[in-house]
Parts: sequence; structure tokens; C-alpha cells
Amino acid sequence: MRILALETSCDETAAALADISGTRRIHVRLLSSVVSSQIALHAPYGGVVPFLAQREHRKNISAVLAQALAEPAKRLKKYNSTPTKKQRTAPAARYLTYEPELLEEFTVLTEKFSSLIATIDAIAVTKGPGLEPALWVGVNAARALATLWHKPLVGVNHLEGHIFANYLENKQIIFPALALIVSGGHTELVLITEPGKYKIIGETRDDAAGEAFDKAAKILGLPYPGGPQISQHAQNGDRTFFDLPRPMLHSADLDFSFSGLKTALLYLVRPISKKTPTAGMPPYSPDHLNDLCASFEQAVLDVLIAKTAKALKKYRPQTLIIGGGVSANTELRKQFSAMITKDFPHTLLLLAPLSFTGDNAAMIAVAGYFSAQKGKFSRPNTLRADGGLDLA
Ligand code: KG4
Ligand code: ZN
Repeated sequence: MRILALETSCDETAAALADISGTRRIHVRLLSSVVSSQIALHAPYGGVVPFLAQREHRKNISAVLAQALAEPAKRLKKYNSTPTKKQRTAPAARYLTYEPELLEEFTVLTEKFSSLIATIDAIAVTKGPGLEPALWVGVNAARALATLWHKPLVGVNHLEGHIFANYLENKQIIFPALALIVSGGHTELVLITEPGKYKIIGETRDDAAGEAFDKAAKILGLPYPGGPQISQHAQNGDRTFFDLPRPMLHSADLDFSFSGLKTALLYLVRPISKKTPTAGMPPYSPDHLNDLCASFEQAVLDVLIAKTAKALKKYRPQTLIIGGGVSANTELRKQFSAMITKDFPHTLLLLAPLSFTGDNAAMIAVAGYFSAQKGKFSRPNTLRADGGLDLA
């Protein structure tokens, strides 16, 4: 099945084209994956500004889509395709009331890539969770394209994308699996009996892990997004230098809480910098900055590892999947690998491929494939963006 996917849930505009096959063994041939990041635009605000994200998605989506189609179109000779007939644009226009300029851009694309478009079997798009104004751009674009090209449409849960990113490297999940999703908006432990069947067994009660990293970075005067910054400084710091709390480490459930940790960091930094504001102490001293980052990162990791281990003990899944933006964290990958080797040697650990830990459309194509296989299609006129969409 050839799937074109779009993703605009946060601050990356992404499109991908993939050939996916199989039921038990999944095979993915990624034809293209284009991600246009808005990080530089949002950085001065210290976080993603939803209406700016929406504006940028509108501005970029046609170019990102064109790029995702251009490479595969060059290699098209291999396919026997019938070019699409000249389409009427009026039925698609109704989905682009807020993005009218896209109609013209999509019409140009349709003519330029008609032979390749004819080979596409379905269009997948992230419908949630995420920033609703941002999500709508992708959803409207997908509704219009599905109408223009007469293709089935699949609405995808963004978190399913993070769960299945491993298939992009053709690594197979053995079910039942446990997924730890750690991103800017989510920290969830999910039991998966098969694609599409999820049970959330733990989640954050306040800040998500990535959000905690971003807020901590802000406190320490580091630029957005904070995760990679903290991770980098932490590599040269002492992880035991500062004593930070491990919220909910011993709670009976599998939930998380990170907002107290951020507050503890704030109180830790304040007195030091006030006492010796000019002595180059934290957050100004590079030495202590590294120690603060390392101690903070370790506090987050200790809780993530302990709760995941607890879930592994209780549910005994065959595979542990870790995905989402925070799974790019070097130390997280190292410490989870060590924990699995030591305590759960029979559990398969699948860390999201480093090139697909952050938001991308390739993972949305894979998640869309599973829905398409089950015939879970949406009609363009009923598909909606849902910022608070649940996984289960
Ligand atoms: O999955 P993602 O790209 O977007 C959401 O769906 O939220 O995750 C973004 C989050 C940000 O909070 C970012 O700071 C965090 O992932 N992140 C990291 C690292 N790289 C990105 N956190 C810790 N260490 C990293 N290396
Ligand atoms: Zn994400």
C-alpha cells in the first residue's frame, strides 16, 4: 500500500510517502520524508505559539508536499501508472475556506505529479492530539487532496505514529508490547496487544517529560527547545551534584508528575544566583550549569526508568518501545538499554530510530497503514482535528 502522510500537529510541517506491506511482518520502504521545522521562529517566545505555527504550516505545506513527491516522481519509471484526469477543483475548495491559497498550489502539484499521484493508495493525516490550529492545516489539506485525487483518507493519532516509528527501520514489534511515549506534550505508558488496541496504564498528571526539559532549560537560561540543550550540558555534568526530588517514584500507580521537579530546580537556582549574583555561580557558571542539567536529567530518567520497570514487571510484555522527542536523549537510551539488559533480558527493547524520534510524517504513514488495513477510513466531510484526542 502506498501512503502519503501529512503531519502538522506542532511546530514541524511534514510530508512523507511510503510503500508499506505485510500483516504480521511489516515492511516499510520509505520513498520520501520531508520535515520543515519552525523551531527558529518559536525560539524567541520560549515555546510554540499556536497561531504562528498555523500560519507557518499554511505557508509551507505545499512546498513540503512537493518536495515529498519530487524525489519519488523521478524514480517513477518502475510503476505502471495511469495519469490522473484533469480534476474539478470545486469539491476540494470547500475544505480550504481558511487556506484558499492552497487550492491553486495543490492544482499545480496535481498536474506536475499526476503519474505519481495515480499510484497513491491512501492519504494519512495527523488528526490529534496537538495544537488544534496547527492540526487543522494538515487535516484541511488532506481533506482537499483526498477529494481532488479521489483517495481514501485516514485520520491518525499522533501518538500511534510515535509508537510505530520502529517499523521505519523494519524492526518488528513482538506483541503484547509496552510503549513509553515521551514527548513535548505526552508522557504515557501504553499496553498494546496489537496495532489499534491500546490501554493507557500510566500518564503524567501535569507536565510532560519534554515539557519539563523545556521549562527547566528556560529556568537555566537555555534556549528553546530545552531537551537537546539540557542533554548536551548534562554530558559534562555530575548527575549526583544536586539533590533534586524524584516525584511519585514510589507511588503505587504508574503515573508521573514533573511539575514539582521543575519548581525544585527553580528554588535551587534562585538562592545560589541571588547569594552570589556576580560570582559566576549557577545559572551563569558553566560548571554548575552542567551539574544542574545532569542532576535534573537524572531525576527525570530515574522516574521514567522506575515506572517503566514497574510496568514491565507487572505486565510482562514481549517488547518495550520508547518513542517521542525525548527518546532522542542520549542518556535515556543508554540507561534504558542497561536496565533492560540487566533486569529484563528477555524483553526486546525498541528505541525509536534517532532520525524519527521527533515529529515526522513517515511515522504517520505507518500508523495510517494499520488503520487502512482495518478499513478505518474517514470521509473528508467528517474528519476533524482534535487537539485533545485520546489514544484509548
Ligand atoms: O515528539 P516531539 O518532537 O513533539 C511532540 O509531539 O511534543 O517532542 C518534542 C520534545 C521537546 O519537549 C524537546 O525538548 C524534547 O522532545 N527533546 C528532548 C531531546 N530532544 C528533544 N528531550 C530530552 N533530550 C533530548 N535529547
Ligand atoms: Zn510528537
